[in-house]
Amino acid sequence: SGEDGSAAWLRYAPLPHASSYNFLPSSIITLNSTKGSPVYTAQQELHRGFRGIFGKTLSNGSSRSRSESIIVGTAHVYQKSYGEFDEAEEIEEDGYFLSTEGPQVLILGQNERGALYGAFDYLSRLAQGKLDAVSYVSNPHASIRWTNEWDNLDGSIERGYAGPSIFFENGFVTDNATRVAKYARLLASIRINGIIVNNVNTNEMLLSPQNIDGLGRLADAMRPYGVQLGISLNFASPQLLGGLGTFDPLDPTVDAWWANITNQIYARVPDMAGYLVKANSEGQPGPLTYNRTLADGANLFARAVKPHGGIIMFRAFVYDHHLNESNWKADRANAAVEFFQDLDGKFDDNVVVQIKYGPIDFQVREPASPLFSSLRNTSTAIELQVTQEYLGQQSHLVCIAPMWKEILEFDLKADNRSSKVKDIVSGERFRRPLGGFAGVVNVGTNATWLGSHLAMSNLYAYGLLAWDPALGAEEILQDWIRLTFGHDQKVIETITDMSMKSWPAYENYTGNLGIQTLMDVLYSHFGPNPASMDNNGWGMWTRADKFSIGMDRTVKNGTGNAGQYSPEVAKVFENVETTPDNLLLWFHHVNYMHSLKSGKTVIQHFYDSHYEGAATAQTLLRQWESLKGKIDSERYEHVLFRQKFQAGHALVWRDSINQFYYNLSEIKDEAGRVGNH
Ligand code: GCU
Repeated sequence: SGEDGSAAWLRYAPLPHASSYNFLPSSIITLNSTKGSPVYTAQQELHRGFRGIFGKTLSNGSSRSRSESIIVGTAHVYQKSYGEFDEAEEIEEDGYFLSTEGPQVLILGQNERGALYGAFDYLSRLAQGKLDAVSYVSNPHASIRWTNEWDNLDGSIERGYAGPSIFFENGFVTDNATRVAKYARLLASIRINGIIVNNVNTNEMLLSPQNIDGLGRLADAMRPYGVQLGISLNFASPQLLGGLGTFDPLDPTVDAWWANITNQIYARVPDMAGYLVKANSEGQPGPLTYNRTLADGANLFARAVKPHGGIIMFRAFVYDHHLNESNWKADRANAAVEFFQDLDGKFDDNVVVQIKYGPIDFQVREPASPLFSSLRNTSTAIELQVTQEYLGQQSHLVCIAPMWKEILEFDLKADNRSSKVKDIVSGERFRRPLGGFAGVVNVGTNATWLGSHLAMSNLYAYGLLAWDPALGAEEILQDWIRLTFGHDQKVIETITDMSMKSWPAYENYTGNLGIQTLMDVLYSHFGPNPASMDNNGWGMWTRADKFSIGMDRTVKNGTGNAGQYSPEVAKVFENVETTPDNLLLWFHHVNYMHSLKSGKTVIQHFYDSHYEGAATAQTLLRQWESLKGKIDSERYEHVLFRQKFQAGHALVWRDSINQFYYNLSEIKDEAGRVGNH
């Protein structure tokens, strides 16, 4: 049913053989019973979970019934009533202590949000039949674990594939926040603590009095789940909305305008998380218009939110989209470092520079952005994309966690010391006070949230990796499958296998060796169109001609991009021999007959990979079909439709790309599959 769809991984489906577990608690002691508090929400959730999983109604306990109780609340309040416990001092902000070792179950957060996370963790264990006694403290890897939603005021969603907005309609914040609350619940269960509710390409009318009041409604709906609201701003608002003659960030009237409107927002949303800003990017206004720096632009907002404890997420996605391809040294991948490196240390301490994982734009394969290791005195966050803009737009299964893991674990070797991306964005590596994760999600009103049941593993994994990037992709996936589809071993194995194959397969049939997703670059970002990559200002070039292909990003002969990395890493990418095959064409321009480490030529690798990837897409369909009868028919059919589409579309991809490069190079496929027949 639709209800099941929107429950996603919070189904609390009956656990097989549940009645044989007789040691379950029978009551809940809640250390804060104020309605709307996250601890109260935790209690509600525990009731709901026990009813669903065990068919058991918990009573609301008193301290006398302690021994068969769940005690849920903050560690602080617990200690006042029940005395000290050793683990209390290990619990960090948003973290929790969970003990099921008895006599009672303890769920104690450092703050209320942590207690709610602990309750969700406990319920997730129960729902998965993980009933062994455990006792541990769980703390977040980073403090900022937000989603970005690219929702427009008119209700449409940029790069959203699941119907219209849950936040806005017809120019205004929605009156009905029921679904917003449901979304906040989902997010709390994966420990997300903030949402930017509107598009980075934003409309100043968001700041009208009526909409500010509407934002208050949204925040009210999310607050019981510990999810804070944030908004994305239009830099020119003082002019567009405020009627000032300027939006110059150093003009005192502009400064006062932002302080004033910010105070109005905080009056309605006292716990607003902060602002997200896309400035001087893809036609958006920004400080460069007035010859001010990007730091001047960010600090303008930082000053406004500072008295309220807010954070500014300032996007590093600044580049010139009118690049000239005839200039061999022009390179969009260089832009972020070029724009930001000289500003290091010039941002206020409540500014976080939000950096897309790779130097270009969410491609199927990119190296980690060199900006992560260039900024040492600036807090940073990584921007990931849950919505599958370049990854098949939810009509292809692409499980992204393995890609995120590669990026997060990548060692940028700053100063020749271990500098993994995950430890930079947590703030640890360069000792920054702030840092974290921003995931572009773009859920819609569709009952499946993202438009595809299987795509929800990406949202689930995003939250869990932001909490703990050391978790394995497969491990996360299997938990998600149990929670979403149940305990049948064949279902678990099949969906795991399909998911783990899916990113490599997609890379194989869309664009390999680091050439990017060879999609239609100009508008849809969907479907094969390798020709569209070149001869325009967007800078996602392949530089393919009759003889050769790839971007020369070397220092010695190319755009110099390899040199933006620390010397240890730069050395690897500078040299064609040491560059890994999967990034060869990202960093080097080579002949189609160039030999890879596998011994194959580049062109033969293209041909073979496209056949392999498309063949895997056929396998995914057959694997899904093997689950018929093991999954409710509604979800089975919904996914089946998409797997059929993917299987077909993968063939279109294969043949378009292979034929394109055959036509260009006129080099025959050794296996005789590609060519003029
Ligand atoms: C991509 C995407 C745009 C989006 C932009 C951004 O280019 O296609 O829709 O606005 O990224 O992240 O700002």
